[in-house]
Amino acid sequence: MPARQLLQALMRARTLTLFALVSAGLCMVNAFKAPSYGAGRLLPLSDEITQPELASLMGELQRLTHKMALSADAGNAELVNFYMHESLEQMKKIQTEVPDYEGQPVALLMERMGQPAYATMQEAVNAKDKQQMLAALDAVVQSCNACHVATLHPFIRITRGTEVNPFNQSFRP
Ligand code: HEC
Repeated sequence: MPARQLLQALMRARTLTLFALVSAGLCMVNAFKAPSYGAGRLLPLSDEITQPELASLMGELQRLTHKMALSADAGNAELVNFYMHESLEQMKKIQTEVPDYEGQPVALLMERMGQPAYATMQEAVNAKDKQQMLAALDAVVQSCNACHVATLHPFIRITRGTEVNPFNQSFRP
């Protein structure tokens, strides 16, 4: 190999070694920086966990309301009665666990806007009347949506949802 080519090959090898060393150095700097960065991000998260998530409590209420709707649509007063009481318990849970949310008086609004609709449902259940149960159901759904409007969440719109049964459960009497 002529001397010039040998020199060029040697220089290329040196450049590669230098590049490898610099990369390794950067990786080490990042490795040392990582723990303090991770810890800094974890702290605010643990602060937020103290209040239960209203959305997941609402999700459970939605599930119960949906099953109550399917039971009413099937004319099953016994099952409507069951989901009505489960819903009222879930509402109480929400009132105790999240009385206020982002400046909205959730517990108060639950009492004023949410719960009254269930009194009508109780009457319908006692009468075992399908049409009465469906009318009461509409009043419940309306109360959900009225409260979503009042608490600045008008984009969360609940419906009867009785067109199809998405559950592996029969709602027939
Ligand atoms: C106190 C007023 C109030 C009442 C009454 C109320 N909601 Fe809500 N709901 C809220 C608020 C506020 C949010 C938003 C929570 C958030 O921002 O995390 C919400 C969120 C939701 C969500 C979104 C969470 C999800 O899992 O998709 C659903 C669904 C929901 N509500 C269903 C219902 C149903 C069903 C009813 C009636 C049986 C109802 N809500 C009654 C205030 C209410």
